[in-house]
Amino acid sequence: MKKIGVFTSGGDAPGMNACIRAVVRSALHRGLEVAGIYRGYQGLIEGDIKRLDSHSVSSIISLGGTILRSARSKDFMTVEGRKLAYQNLQKEGIDGIVAIGGDGTFTGANIFMQEFPDIKIVGCPGTIDNDLAGTDHTIGFDTAINTAMEAIDKIKDTANAHDRLFFIEVMGRDAGYIAMAAGIATGAEAVLIPEHKTNLDDLVKVLQNAHNRKKNSSIVVVAEGEEAGGAYEIADYVKSRLDIFEIKVSILGHIQRGGSPTCLERVRASRMGVAATEALLEGKSGVMIGIINNEIAYTAFEKAIKKAGDIPLKYMDLIKDLN
Ligand code: F6P
Repeated sequence: MKKIGVFTSGGDAPGMNACIRAVVRSALHRGLEVAGIYRGYQGLIEGDIKRLDSHSVSSIISLGGTILRSARSKDFMTVEGRKLAYQNLQKEGIDGIVAIGGDGTFTGANIFMQEFPDIKIVGCPGTIDNDLAGTDHTIGFDTAINTAMEAIDKIKDTANAHDRLFFIEVMGRDAGYIAMAAGIATGAEAVLIPEHKTNLDDLVKVLQNAHNRKKNSSIVVVAEGEEAGGAYEIADYVKSRLDIFEIKVSILGHIQRGGSPTCLERVRASRMGVAATEALLEGKSGVMIGIINNEIAYTAFEKAIKKAGDIPLKYMDLIKDLN
């Protein structure tokens, strides 16, 4: 292997830049040439590829977003799109790729590798959602939960001042990891996540109970993938059953995707980036790098993308216990 490419794809996540930097620097140190592929699979199809040197990744470790930019490519879902991508890789002399992204990124990589097995692809888990198997934490998760926590702390200040009940919706797509972490960390009265069925009448009882105990405010964290509905819908239901609170809704949204990565994020992303370069040099392909129990782990793409519903019930109990 002489030249590798690196790209970020899907939703951006804080820490992606730290990972790019680690891939570039570790590859250069091992005598490889490195190309940056811009806008993920779409840039690969369009030939948006530039050589990266050590200087290209200077001072990016603390930056949110991704210097390589990102996209969700519809063209890559077609055979013609993937052929164009392959031709561009051949033109550039790239025979190894580090793909930083989430389940969509690895699903695409899996198909591509079956069609063009001469291109080796190793993944790094980049998504705030933490919804990949094969790693304790994805790149972006720690920063996102800290951002959500800080935002909810601030909302709690004003909720306390006015005796209000807030429904706060956080990101996570179909997963409730962000909601659960942010909920525990902010002392939420309830956390509603898609992994566990929500009974809205039980929720009403919990909130009534909190009011009876003279709590100044109540916070309910709602994961965006919650099956009982979004924060507005659930707030409307609760409003129709309880008129003791003034109820407000806040959707945290894309603020959770931005910002300077936390220290832990930078460390994990750096370790994963170096491990990805090494994996390519060892001839590995079709695997996602992860960190499990503080050790680097390798998980096949098809296994990595099949994480669902594994937030243990004990976390739901924790919320009740701390209430
Ligand atoms: O996968 C990351 C994520 O932020 C999800 O939590 C969310 O559902 C989705 O991306 C939002 O995507 P977009 O930025 O395209 O609106």
